[in-house]
Amino acid sequence: MENKFAVLPRHIAIIMDGNGRWAKQRGLKRYEGHKVGAEVFRTITQYCIDIGIKHVTFYAFSTENWKRSKVEVAAIMTLLRQYLEEMRIRFAENEELGCRIRFIGSRAGMPKDIVKLMDTVEKRSADKDKVFINIAVNYGGRAEITESVKEIARGIKRGDIDIDDIDEEMIGARLYTAGQPDPDLIIRPSGEYRLSNFLLWQSAYSEFYIDDVLWPDYTPQDLDRAIEAYGKRDRRFGNAQ
Ligand code: FPP
Repeated sequence: MENKFAVLPRHIAIIMDGNGRWAKQRGLKRYEGHKVGAEVFRTITQYCIDIGIKHVTFYAFSTENWKRSKVEVAAIMTLLRQYLEEMRIRFAENEELGCRIRFIGSRAGMPKDIVKLMDTVEKRSADKDKVFINIAVNYGGRAEITESVKEIARGIKRGDIDIDDIDEEMIGARLYTAGQPDPDLIIRPSGEYRLSNFLLWQSAYSEFYIDDVLWPDYTPQDLDRAIEAYGKRDRRFGNAQ
C-alpha cells in the first residue's frame, strides 16, 4: 500500500470533531457520536500505520472539554478506558507493529485508573520506534507552552540555565512532543476553521485541511483526499520563490 501518494506527510494531526452534530442529526445522544468516533479513531489509526505515516496525533479531549456535561465527560472517559484496556490486553499485537503510544496532556485531574493505564501503555511501548501515536487527552496548547516556560524559569532559578541561552529549541524540548517532528498536516473534519488550542507551538508551519465530513463518518478515503491535497501544497516555510 505504500507509495500510493506522491508525498506522504511525516506527521499527521487530527482534530476529531463533529461527534455531537453527527449524533444530533440522528436523534441520538451525544455519547453515541463519541462511541462511533472512538471506532473511527481505531480505523484511522490502523490506516495511517498501513500507508506508512510515521507520526499521528489525535485530539481526544481538551482542557476545555471538562466544561461539558458530567454525563458526556464520563462517557468520553469510559471510551478512553476501554481503549486503554484493549491496548493493555493486545500488547503483543502492538509490539509487533512497533507502535509507540504516548498520551500528551496533563495527568492532573484525570481519573486515577486511567492515568495508571496510560502509564502502563506508555511504558510498555516506550522502546518502539516504527510508528508514533500521540493521543491528546486533557491537552491544551497554551498550558503546554506555559509549563515549558515554567520549567525553564525553574532552571534559571537553580542557576542551570542562562537567560540568553533560551531559544525555540529549548522551549520545544520541554513540550509533550519533544523529539518528534512538527505536524506537516493538520486535519479538521466537520467544517470548522479553528485550531482550538491544539498544538499551538508545533503548528507554526503545518498545512491545514478542513473537511465537511463529521468525524463519525470519516473514512480512509477522506484521509486519502487530505493527503493528496497536501501533496499539491507549496510549502515555503517563510521563504520566497
Ligand atoms: C469533538 O466533537 C469530540 C470530542 C470532544 C471527543 C472526541 C473523543 C472521542 C472520539 C473518543 C475518544 C476515545 C479514544 C479511544 C481516543 P464534538 O462533540 O465537539 O462535536 P460537535 O462539535 O459536533 O458537538
